[in-house]
Amino acid sequence: MKNSGTEIVICGFMGAGKSTWGQRFAMKKELKFLDLDEMIENQEGISVKKIFERFGAPYFRKCEMNYCRNLAELKNVVIAVGGGTFESLENVLMFSADFAIIFLDTDFETCYLRIKDSNRPLVVDFTKEQLQELFRQRRKLFLEISDIVISS
Ligand code: S3P
Repeated sequence: MKNSGTEIVICGFMGAGKSTWGQRFAMKKELKFLDLDEMIENQEGISVKKIFERFGAPYFRKCEMNYCRNLAELKNVVIAVGGGTFESLENVLMFSADFAIIFLDTDFETCYLRIKDSNRPLVVDFTKEQLQELFRQRRKLFLEISDIVISS
Protein backbone atom coordinates (compact mmCIF):
# COMPACT_ATOMS: atom_id res chain seq x y z
CA MET A 1 0.00 0.00 0.00
CA LYS A 2 1.72 3.19 -1.10
CA ASN A 3 -0.46 5.62 0.80
CA SER A 4 -0.01 6.34 4.48
CA GLY A 5 -1.24 9.92 4.83
CA THR A 6 -4.59 11.64 5.00
CA GLU A 7 -5.70 12.79 1.58
CA ILE A 8 -9.13 14.23 1.07
CA VAL A 9 -10.80 15.78 -1.93
CA ILE A 10 -14.11 17.60 -1.57
CA CYS A 11 -16.61 17.83 -4.38
CA GLY A 12 -20.06 19.34 -4.63
CA PHE A 13 -22.10 21.84 -6.58
CA MET A 14 -21.13 25.52 -6.83
CA GLY A 15 -22.07 27.17 -3.54
CA ALA A 16 -22.12 23.90 -1.60
CA GLY A 17 -19.53 25.31 0.80
CA LYS A 18 -16.57 23.18 -0.32
CA SER A 19 -13.90 25.75 0.51
CA THR A 20 -15.35 26.78 3.87
CA TRP A 21 -15.89 23.19 4.97
CA GLY A 22 -12.52 22.09 3.60
CA GLN A 23 -10.63 24.88 5.33
CA ARG A 24 -12.23 24.10 8.69
CA PHE A 25 -11.65 20.40 8.34
CA ALA A 26 -8.02 20.88 7.30
CA MET A 27 -7.37 23.18 10.25
CA LYS A 28 -8.87 20.68 12.69
CA LYS A 29 -6.81 17.82 11.31
CA GLU A 30 -3.68 19.93 10.84
CA LEU A 31 -3.63 19.28 7.13
CA LYS A 32 -2.84 21.66 4.31
CA PHE A 33 -5.86 23.06 2.47
CA LEU A 34 -5.85 23.84 -1.24
CA ASP A 35 -8.61 25.21 -3.43
CA LEU A 36 -8.27 24.23 -7.07
CA ASP A 37 -9.83 27.39 -8.56
CA GLU A 38 -7.79 29.62 -6.29
CA MET A 39 -4.66 27.76 -7.28
CA ILE A 40 -5.42 28.13 -10.99
CA GLU A 41 -6.13 31.84 -10.55
CA ASN A 42 -2.94 32.47 -8.57
CA GLN A 43 -0.66 30.46 -10.79
CA GLU A 44 -2.13 31.52 -14.13
CA GLY A 45 -2.49 35.13 -12.99
CA ILE A 46 -6.02 35.37 -14.35
CA SER A 47 -9.47 34.80 -12.88
CA VAL A 48 -11.52 31.72 -13.73
CA LYS A 49 -14.16 34.06 -15.16
CA LYS A 50 -11.61 35.62 -17.52
CA ILE A 51 -10.26 32.20 -18.55
CA PHE A 52 -13.79 31.22 -19.61
CA GLU A 53 -14.31 34.54 -21.41
CA ARG A 54 -10.97 34.67 -23.21
CA PHE A 55 -10.24 31.03 -23.93
CA GLY A 56 -13.52 29.18 -23.44
CA ALA A 57 -14.76 26.34 -21.24
CA PRO A 58 -12.76 23.51 -22.93
CA TYR A 59 -9.52 25.38 -22.25
CA PHE A 60 -10.48 25.82 -18.60
CA ARG A 61 -11.29 22.11 -18.31
CA LYS A 62 -7.85 21.22 -19.74
CA CYS A 63 -6.19 23.57 -17.33
CA GLU A 64 -8.21 22.09 -14.48
CA MET A 65 -7.07 18.60 -15.48
CA ASN A 66 -3.41 19.60 -15.54
CA TYR A 67 -3.64 21.01 -12.04
CA CYS A 68 -5.52 17.91 -10.82
CA ARG A 69 -2.68 15.73 -12.06
CA ASN A 70 -0.25 17.55 -9.77
CA LEU A 71 -2.63 17.89 -6.85
CA ALA A 72 -3.42 14.18 -6.85
CA GLU A 73 0.25 13.47 -6.05
CA LEU A 74 0.16 15.41 -2.78
CA LYS A 75 0.07 13.92 0.70
CA ASN A 76 -1.63 15.09 3.89
CA VAL A 77 -3.87 17.54 2.16
CA VAL A 78 -7.50 18.59 1.84
CA ILE A 79 -8.38 19.78 -1.65
CA ALA A 80 -11.57 21.51 -2.74
CA VAL A 81 -12.16 21.02 -6.45
CA GLY A 82 -14.56 23.03 -8.63
CA GLY A 83 -18.18 22.05 -9.12
CA GLY A 84 -17.46 20.69 -12.60
CA THR A 85 -14.06 19.07 -12.01
CA PHE A 86 -15.42 15.56 -11.51
CA GLU A 87 -17.53 15.65 -14.64
CA SER A 88 -14.30 14.33 -16.09
CA LEU A 89 -13.86 10.68 -15.15
CA GLU A 90 -10.14 11.11 -15.74
CA ASN A 91 -10.01 13.63 -12.91
CA VAL A 92 -11.96 11.31 -10.62
CA LEU A 93 -9.56 8.46 -11.37
CA MET A 94 -6.53 10.60 -10.58
CA PHE A 95 -7.79 11.01 -7.03
CA SER A 96 -9.74 7.86 -6.34
CA ALA A 97 -6.78 5.58 -5.63
CA ASP A 98 -5.25 7.57 -2.77
CA PHE A 99 -7.83 10.18 -1.75
CA ALA A 100 -11.07 9.88 0.14
CA ILE A 101 -13.65 11.64 -2.01
CA ILE A 102 -16.12 13.60 0.10
CA PHE A 103 -19.32 14.90 -1.45
CA LEU A 104 -20.70 17.94 0.30
CA ASP A 105 -24.40 17.44 -0.36
CA THR A 106 -26.05 20.83 -0.06
CA ASP A 107 -29.59 21.36 -1.42
CA PHE A 108 -30.08 23.29 -4.64
CA GLU A 109 -31.89 26.31 -3.18
CA THR A 110 -29.12 26.90 -0.65
CA CYS A 111 -26.46 26.63 -3.36
CA TYR A 112 -28.49 28.88 -5.66
CA LEU A 113 -28.91 31.60 -3.03
CA ARG A 114 -25.15 31.62 -2.51
CA ILE A 115 -24.22 31.72 -6.19
CA LYS A 116 -26.99 33.63 -7.93
CA ASP A 117 -25.33 37.04 -7.64
CA SER A 118 -21.82 35.76 -8.21
CA ASN A 119 -19.89 36.13 -11.44
CA ARG A 120 -19.30 32.42 -11.93
CA PRO A 121 -19.36 31.80 -15.69
CA LEU A 122 -22.03 29.10 -15.53
CA VAL A 123 -24.29 31.21 -13.33
CA VAL A 124 -24.07 34.12 -15.72
CA ASP A 125 -24.84 31.94 -18.75
CA PHE A 126 -27.50 29.57 -17.33
CA THR A 127 -31.07 30.15 -16.16
CA LYS A 128 -32.12 28.94 -12.72
CA GLU A 129 -33.91 25.99 -14.34
CA GLN A 130 -30.80 25.02 -16.30
CA LEU A 131 -28.70 25.21 -13.16
CA GLN A 132 -31.21 23.03 -11.34
CA GLU A 133 -30.98 20.42 -14.08
CA LEU A 134 -27.19 20.54 -13.93
CA PHE A 135 -27.45 20.15 -10.16
CA ARG A 136 -29.60 17.01 -10.57
CA GLN A 137 -27.17 15.44 -13.04
CA ARG A 138 -24.11 16.29 -10.99
CA ARG A 139 -25.65 15.17 -7.69
CA LYS A 140 -26.22 11.74 -9.22
CA LEU A 141 -22.59 11.65 -10.34
CA PHE A 142 -21.25 12.87 -6.99
CA LEU A 143 -23.23 10.17 -5.17
CA GLU A 144 -21.74 7.54 -7.46
CA ILE A 145 -18.11 8.58 -7.19
CA SER A 146 -17.84 9.65 -3.55
CA ASP A 147 -16.65 7.57 -0.60
CA ILE A 148 -18.37 9.75 1.99
CA VAL A 149 -21.46 11.96 1.69
CA ILE A 150 -21.92 14.87 4.08
CA SER A 151 -25.34 16.49 4.10
CA SER A 152 -25.04 20.15 4.83
C1 S3P B 1 -17.60 25.43 -12.09
C2 S3P B 1 -17.48 25.71 -10.74
C3 S3P B 1 -16.57 26.74 -10.22
C4 S3P B 1 -15.39 26.96 -11.18
C5 S3P B 1 -15.89 27.22 -12.57
C6 S3P B 1 -16.74 26.09 -13.12
C7 S3P B 1 -18.58 24.42 -12.50
O1 S3P B 1 -16.07 26.34 -8.94
O2 S3P B 1 -14.54 25.85 -11.19
O3 S3P B 1 -16.61 28.42 -12.54
O4 S3P B 1 -18.50 23.91 -13.63
O5 S3P B 1 -19.47 24.08 -11.68
P1 S3P B 1 -16.94 26.36 -7.59
O6 S3P B 1 -17.72 25.08 -7.53
O7 S3P B 1 -15.92 26.45 -6.52
O8 S3P B 1 -17.82 27.55 -7.64
